[in-house]
Amino acid sequence: MNTQIKSDPTVFVIFGGTGDLNMRKLAPALYNLYLDGWMPKQFSIIGTGRTKYTDEQYRQTLLDGINQFSRSGKADPVKWKAFSESVYYQSSDVKDHESYKEFGTRIEKHAADWKTKPNVIYYMAVSPNFFPIIASNLSKAKLTQDTKRVRVVIEKPFGHDLESAKELNQLLANIFDECQIYRIDHYLGKETVQNIMAFRFANSLFEPLWNRNYIEHVQISVTEQLGMGERGDYYDGSGALRDMIQNHLLQLLCLVAMETPINWESDEVRNRKVEVLRAMRPFTADDVRNSTVRGQYAKGWMEGKEVPGYREEAKVDPQSNTETFAAIKFFVDNWRWQGVPFYLRTGKRLHQSASVITIQFRDVPHKVFPSETSESWAQNRLIISIQPEMSIRLQVQAKRPGLDMILNPVDMVFDYKGTYSNQTPEAYETLLLDTMMGDQTLFMRGDQVESAWELVMPILNTWQNKKSLSFPNYSADSWGPESAEALIARDGFHWFTLPLTSKK
Ligand code: BG6
Repeated sequence: MNTQIKSDPTVFVIFGGTGDLNMRKLAPALYNLYLDGWMPKQFSIIGTGRTKYTDEQYRQTLLDGINQFSRSGKADPVKWKAFSESVYYQSSDVKDHESYKEFGTRIEKHAADWKTKPNVIYYMAVSPNFFPIIASNLSKAKLTQDTKRVRVVIEKPFGHDLESAKELNQLLANIFDECQIYRIDHYLGKETVQNIMAFRFANSLFEPLWNRNYIEHVQISVTEQLGMGERGDYYDGSGALRDMIQNHLLQLLCLVAMETPINWESDEVRNRKVEVLRAMRPFTADDVRNSTVRGQYAKGWMEGKEVPGYREEAKVDPQSNTETFAAIKFFVDNWRWQGVPFYLRTGKRLHQSASVITIQFRDVPHKVFPSETSESWAQNRLIISIQPEMSIRLQVQAKRPGLDMILNPVDMVFDYKGTYSNQTPEAYETLLLDTMMGDQTLFMRGDQVESAWELVMPILNTWQNKKSLSFPNYSADSWGPESAEALIARDGFHWFTLPLTSKK
């Protein structure tokens, strides 16, 4: 979202400073921003948590994280030393007012040293139960008042349902102005996801086709090979609908379906996106029955290794009713999209890790060529592959070289790897930089989060109240339950998968 301009001096206070998210994502992202020259000249990163560390010990833990997870590989000793001089640790208890006073003192000291008021970014990389107490204590310590300079970053999950999301929004609104609140959905920071907007709104080619007259259906599929790992306790209270559909997949849908914004102002873009959510057809009990599928994985084999079923995973209830797979057919009730189904699916322990959006165009109105010339006829498709392959493909029919007239589908491909030589920034780099620059375009506004919850609530309630008798209903390394195939097959389509060579 940015030009080469750097942000003002910035202090980051990272709650959950010793946690996994900081080690894997935030610290590597900040370090890479530093390497690429995006960090302001004066910055400070204050990690905080309950563990007792000296600054030196803390720096070492971050270095371990960076060496393991940074896209740029192991840290260069000279650059790391220069970067790490701006990294500090303050052990704290989120309930203890003294800790907040100490943050205040540190921030004031930086302001005095730098002879300017810095931006202050409070990053909540903690479990959501702590959001309210941290926000209120920051406010009590008078650390939130400067609406221009102070920002708060809230990690997902933002609420557990509509009611809790509303409560959290209300609590935050009592303390912060909306322009200070950065609700993260890391999918929006992904390079390929940002490119959906560039692709749609910087080319004149697609807009005339981008509607119900030419588009037959849309698929958004985010499949993962990963199982639970250490996250069973969080996931068992969440499930695929809350964990992925309510946020990441619906955000992707908004980017595909939104109207063209007038400009690149963050609220203009976010207005266009929230309009999509508002236009989405609410689910009746019949819709939940007929247009949704849930699944849970059974044990099986993945790449030669035996893997446990969901109910056998650590910290998961052995009788769990939590879905690890969801496939849902949505409609957007407006002029552009009336009658065009949007099929979303996501799941764990599936055959392939891939996030792909497929836009299938309507068939030609009249077939000029005899059927024997085109045995492998396929309708035009635009395939936006978000990960692991980063590409946009337009599938068209073409004549195979030769003396006979044989048509087959071919791909016109824009492939990041083949086109650009520079490394792609991680989503968190983009989002952290935007936070420093005060650009909220790629962050969720309060009303967006609530609209997304409102849409999924009928499904969530039905699934919660009615235990699935068929769980577990798909085996590891499959594409999910058969009913998910049936959901889309009933309309005459099938789930599209890219023949990927690399797996994640
Ligand atoms: C997170 C979910 O938000 O996104 C995880 O909580 C999921 O369950 C992850 O695995 C997927 O993100 P990515 O960037 O790996 O596609």
